Amino acid sequence: MNILLVGSGGREHALAWKIKQSPLVRRLVCAPGNPGMAAIAETFDIKPTDVARQVELARQIGAGLVVIGPEVAIEAGLADALEEAGIPCFGPTAAAGRLESSKAFTKAFCDRHHLPTGAYRICGEAAEAKAALAHFAPPYVIKADGLAAGKGVVIAPDRAEAEAAIDDAFGGRFGAAGAQVVIEEYLEGEIGSLFALCDGKTSKLFGWAQDHKRAFDGDQGPNTGGMGTYSPAPVFTLDLIDQIDHQLVRPAFKGIAGDGAPYRGVLFVELMATSHGPRLVEFNARFGDPECQVLMLRLESDLVPYLMACATGRLHELPDPKWRDDDAVCVVLATEGYPGPAKAGSVIGGLDRDFGEGVVVFHAGTSAGPAGTVLAGAGRALNVCATGGDLAEARERAYGAVALIDWPEGFHRTDIGWRALAR
Ligand code: GLY
Repeated sequence: MNILLVGSGGREHALAWKIKQSPLVRRLVCAPGNPGMAAIAETFDIKPTDVARQVELARQIGAGLVVIGPEVAIEAGLADALEEAGIPCFGPTAAAGRLESSKAFTKAFCDRHHLPTGAYRICGEAAEAKAALAHFAPPYVIKADGLAAGKGVVIAPDRAEAEAAIDDAFGGRFGAAGAQVVIEEYLEGEIGSLFALCDGKTSKLFGWAQDHKRAFDGDQGPNTGGMGTYSPAPVFTLDLIDQIDHQLVRPAFKGIAGDGAPYRGVLFVELMATSHGPRLVEFNARFGDPECQVLMLRLESDLVPYLMACATGRLHELPDPKWRDDDAVCVVLATEGYPGPAKAGSVIGGLDRDFGEGVVVFHAGTSAGPAGTVLAGAGRALNVCATGGDLAEARERAYGAVALIDWPEGFHRTDIGWRALAR
C-alpha cells in the first residue's frame, strides 16, 4: 500500500518511523515532512492546510491511506475533502475535529453529554472575561477558544496576570483563535494523556503517557506544547483507565456521532486525575506531540492495520494493540526563548552519530541547511527518545544522547519523568 502522511513535526517523524516498519507499506510519502523524515521517506513541500494540493498528491501517488498528523489540517477540512475524493483517511472531519478546534464547543459538548470537566465561562469580550474571574479562585486558567499551537493556555497566579492574559488574547495575540476565551476552573491533581481510536462506531484504547507542559524544570515557567513525555505513566491505574473509558472516551464518541459527525481517527484525552475521578482538561483530535513519540517506541503491533481500520470502519476486526514491556522517555530540545519569541536558524550539530542502545532521535522543527547541516526552527526542534528496561534506564539513555548533541542555542528540561520517579 502507498501511504501519504501529512505533517512535519516530531509526532509525524515518529509516525513515519513506525509506519515504515510495516510490511504492508510499499511507498511512504510525507508532506511536507522534515529532514528526519526525508531520510526514511519521500517528501513533498506541501503545507498541511493546502487541502487541494494534498488531495492531488494523494491521488498522484495512488494512496491507499492518508494519515493526518496535525490539527490544522483537520480544521482545514482535509479529511472531508479526502472523503469526497474516495480516499481512505485517518483523521476526523472538521466537524468532528471541533472537539479540539473550539474549546467553547467542547465545554458545551461536555455539558450536553454529561462528561466530567471543570467549571467554565465562555467570554466574547475582555470586560466580560475580567468580570468572570470573580467566579473562580486563583490560579486562573485562561484559554483561547481556537487552535494556538499549544500556546493558547495561560495559568495566571493572580488577578493582574489573568487580566493581562485576557487583554493579550483579545488584543490579537492568537489571531482569530482568541476572539473568544474560556475561563476555567483550575483542577488539582495529576495530569495525563490517554489515546483512543475510533472508526465512527467502535473504539479502542491506544496507550497513555504523561507530558510536561511547563517550559522549565520543576514545572515552572510558561505552558508549552510539551517539553517531554514518558510512558507508561503510573498515574494510569487500571481503575482510572476504566473510568476514563466509560466517563470520557465512549460518551465522547457516542456524543459526536449523535451530533452527526462520526469520529474516525485518534482522540487525545488530556485529563486531570483528581480526588473525585478523571476530569477532562481538553480533547485533541490527533496524537499528542510529544506523546506520540513514546507511544510509537512502545507499540509492538503493526500500526498500519489500526490506522486503516479507523479509516474504513473495521476496527472491530482487530485485537487490542500489543505494547512492549519497556519504558520510553522523550526529551524535547527547543530553541532558547520558546514558547515566546525565539530565533530560528541555529545549526544543530552531532546528529550523525550512533546514540547507543534504545535511542531514537526524531526531528520536530528543523530544516535542511547548506552543506548537509540541520537548522533549528524557532520552537521545539528535536525529540531525543529512548526505551529501557525501566524508566530510570530509559531516562539515562535519553539524557546520555542529549549530552552528545551540539546545540548551544537550544534548551531542554532535565527532569522528565520526575513524578513517576518520586513515587
Ligand atoms: N503534548 C500536548 C499536545 O500535543 O497538545
